[in-house]
Amino acid sequence: MFRFSEHRLQACEGETGLKSATFYDLAHRRRSTRLFKDKSVSPEIIRRIVSAAIEAPSSCNRQLWHCVVVTEPAVKMRMNKFSSAEQSYLYDAPVLLAVFYDCSLENHNPCKTPFITAGMAIYAMLLAAEEEGLGAIYLGGIRNPAGIAKALNAPPWLTNVGVICLGHKADDPPCPPRRPVDEILSYEECDSKPAHFHADIRPHLWTLRQLADFRDKLIWYKGIHIDGLTLHADPDARFSEKYRYLTGRIGMLCAQYEKPSVLDILSLNGALILQMLNTCSDDIGTLYAYELTPGTLEYMNAYFKTLIRPENLQGIVNEDPDTLRIPLPDSSVDLITCYERLEHFDDPAPLLREIYRVLKPGGKVLAVVSNRFYPHLYRYKRMKKRKYALGRNWNRGPERKYNPREIEACFRATGFTIDGMTGLQPVERKILGVIEQLCKKFKRYNRADALAARSERMYTNRTVSRYLCSSLAYEISRQ
Ligand SMILES: Cc1cc2nc3c(=O)[nH]c(=O)nc-3n(C[C@H](O)[C@H](O)[C@H](O)COP(=O)(O)O)c2cc1C
Repeated sequence: MFRFSEHRLQACEGETGLKSATFYDLAHRRRSTRLFKDKSVSPEIIRRIVSAAIEAPSSCNRQLWHCVVVTEPAVKMRMNKFSSAEQSYLYDAPVLLAVFYDCSLENHNPCKTPFITAGMAIYAMLLAAEEEGLGAIYLGGIRNPAGIAKALNAPPWLTNVGVICLGHKADDPPCPPRRPVDEILSYEECDSKPAHFHADIRPHLWTLRQLADFRDKLIWYKGIHIDGLTLHADPDARFSEKYRYLTGRIGMLCAQYEKPSVLDILSLNGALILQMLNTCSDDIGTLYAYELTPGTLEYMNAYFKTLIRPENLQGIVNEDPDTLRIPLPDSSVDLITCYERLEHFDDPAPLLREIYRVLKPGGKVLAVVSNRFYPHLYRYKRMKKRKYALGRNWNRGPERKYNPREIEACFRATGFTIDGMTGLQPVERKILGVIEQLCKKFKRYNRADALAARSERMYTNRTVSRYLCSSLAYEISRQ
């Protein structure tokens, strides 16, 4: 990962006469701060920070910025209410700097110059805050920026371009992972990459190269589990119940083998791997993480380094960009986990054949598959029209859901024996969830709590149907 290490700075000094590392240090030190002390910031400091905006370049040197400093809780409440921002720092930060720009003169500029100009000023203010020893974060995720303008009585020609939350840091956030500089730098022309991820999530449109590219990019913005309070990477993240079920089951399966070799298919951020290492690493011989690109595994290694020292973890990468091939010899692993990865493929057969090939006779696969028949209402309309249901979340990439009979036929056609299936998150649970929400709406909190406790116990399938579940956890084996 790229850092302005001393070594690099020395190289720069020789070449460019760079006098000090001050700016690069500052740029590297600045982090988005999300926790603030309850301590005010003096008006002089705020003034100095805003003066950094004045130094920023602006289109035609117009400098049509305007900043509004807010410290009054009542005004903050109004900003929250009108903008539907719903981010805690809008209440917690002692100072809010609402940034506006007069876009009226540059409205038609195709280069979106007002927003570029505003962005430059905002970054200058974030750096200045760091230089002042303060913490700051820029909030762009405001659903209705016009609400900020309304709350602050802005004239119609000023457009709100976000809010900077400012204050004394109550924590020291680590640097979220950064792409290596070589990946974003090229000379004379753009690196023309042969594959770019697709804009349509129906898997039959995707090539393997596109999937690899998507996973490589996804990792940087979806790669870390975040602690809900501080938004830092959270080593003890309480993963979903699905993860807990899976790792519990994997732990039990591991106990059936003597130091088994375990392979996780398309590990991405390593969330499942991390859980396995936390829960049953002593029982595992070698743990393989299979991915499509080296970048994805690089990320995982960098992330794990700060949490655990996984001596028994080995990343393995698909070699041919056009063919799925797990780079392991035939019949070499005892257990395989494939957590909602078959969904990426229009035809799951090539991946299933590879899984079969590397599995030892007598070995087992824990494959979790999303169920096509689970009543996700948002998907229903599309399912009626198309072969593929769109996933809830674009970040999951190409995604299809399986009819249980169809995927079971694929398992059998590959040569697997189906040892068992557990439905996860049964439909009853979903219904209880809806009633729970209604109880909360009508302030029947005791009833809502009781329903929540009941649905907690109902994680695996119960009464209506073994198949009416959001995901199907299959245990399949090679005889
Ligand atoms: C345009 C833009 C919008 C952002 N909006 C939000 C936001 O709404 N909420 C938030 O917590 N962080 C927001 N951020 C901060 C980013 O999450 C943060 O910069 C990124 O994760 C990198 O972390 P760092 O700033 O500590 O280096 C935004 C950043 C930018 C540039």
